[in-house]
Amino acid sequence: MAKPAAKVRPEYRNYIGGEWIVPQSGNYIENRNPADTRELIGSFPASNSSDVDRAVQVAAEAFQRWRKVPAPRRAEILFKAGEILIQRKEEFARDMTREMGKVLAEARGDVQEAIDMTYFIAGEGRRLHGFTTKAELPNKYAMCTREPIGVCALITPWNFPMAIPSWKIVPALVCGNAVVIKPAEDTPLSTYNLVSALTDAGIPPGVLNIVAGRGEEVGKALVEHPKVRLVSFTGSTEVGRIVGQSCAATDKICSLEMGGKNAIMIMEDADLDLALEGVLWGGFGTTGQRCTAASRVIVHRKVAKKFTSMLTDRAKRLRLGPGLNEKTDVGPVINQDAVEKTLEYIEIGRREDKAKMNCGGHRVEKGDLKYGYFIEPAVFSEVEPQMRIAQEEIFGPVVSVIDCRDLDHAIEIVNGVKYGLSASIYTRDTNRAFRAMEEVQTGIFYVNASTIGAEVHLPFGGTKSTGNGHREGGTQVLDIFSEWKAVYVDYSGKLQRAQID
Ligand code: UN1
Repeated sequence: MAKPAAKVRPEYRNYIGGEWIVPQSGNYIENRNPADTRELIGSFPASNSSDVDRAVQVAAEAFQRWRKVPAPRRAEILFKAGEILIQRKEEFARDMTREMGKVLAEARGDVQEAIDMTYFIAGEGRRLHGFTTKAELPNKYAMCTREPIGVCALITPWNFPMAIPSWKIVPALVCGNAVVIKPAEDTPLSTYNLVSALTDAGIPPGVLNIVAGRGEEVGKALVEHPKVRLVSFTGSTEVGRIVGQSCAATDKICSLEMGGKNAIMIMEDADLDLALEGVLWGGFGTTGQRCTAASRVIVHRKVAKKFTSMLTDRAKRLRLGPGLNEKTDVGPVINQDAVEKTLEYIEIGRREDKAKMNCGGHRVEKGDLKYGYFIEPAVFSEVEPQMRIAQEEIFGPVVSVIDCRDLDHAIEIVNGVKYGLSASIYTRDTNRAFRAMEEVQTGIFYVNASTIGAEVHLPFGGTKSTGNGHREGGTQVLDIFSEWKAVYVDYSGKLQRAQID
């Protein structure tokens, strides 16, 4: 009798200098479907510092050639990559749902965001504007140009496994830099897919490299490497701080995009049905695993009870399941650590005497869902602003409803956390909407919409402990990936002394 065929285990390699190279350690990390951990997506390198060193050396050499390619030519390759992404959108979205868990419609959105970013930034290849200005001395010319920086190390998270790498790779490349990217351990395939679109479009060997592995090894080696000039990191505030400190030790440019504790304010005059859709989308979309997720809902006390019961009723009816199933509303969380962290916060919330647990909060242990990381969407109400569930980033399907007295009180609560990424208000009163817009200390603000849904051509990022002042997206991202050079041309034919003559 024939033996059943051995299961093929696709083993991915690092991509260095245009070649697929096995990791020095010979070790791999399994990438499994969080909706059903019996499914292996593939094994990805567990690289070490020698893989990093090889990639950085290759990137440093390639940089010398790439920086001389005119920016409009670099951008043409990026345009082509955008077209390839469009052709492969469905395939890449399915891969993403399998490795990350988000529902297919959202995975399509994630790929679309990479397409949007690629087209938007490719346009910058024919701009990359500097400026000219008047010099303070006669017969002297003054201008500024954007220059490439060198080797950029990009460290990206698992929750937007194609969009966020595109936010970094594409502007880095249009500016003339070379890149080494470390994809998230949990979702490397989507980064491989993005890189394959870019290399198929014609990004030359060595300009764009992947070294996969763990943060403690690959991430650490990248941020400590003397030939890396810039580090761009998206992830937790805890890890971001370590990255920032390490970059400071070697004078690296460092852009950090970190945590959030975003809030939706609902005033008593709001369209509550509309607000409800926004809370469900912002709180439980991507299973609450967006940095922009709406984990706090601050409701005017006149409508708080009513709104809580509307929200609880709908949250209970959200259908959990694999993201590839079109009927699923909420997919799994990413891994066992995320299950434990989320359940721990739910337990912390339950132990609060004053807060009320309205629904959800259990891990699903039945049927096929027990093979995945499924947690029922949880709604707490009567939460007080200082409670841990209302202060700390949970990154799971947990929403806290907090009552407020009026707009000023709501704004005070919004601002009373250490983060400052996204906030929103539901009201029919334009004056209140504008006042909130001015007073809220976040990098992103929405009126009559949820806290999620930023578009690529506007700056993305936050205040306070959400970041270190940079913005991705928009033309503002070019300020991360290029350095300014100020140029003075003196055509007076004599010594002219600035500040003196
Ligand atoms: C993130 O939350 O990690 O604004 C990124 C949004 C998306 C990007 C989110 N366009 O929700």
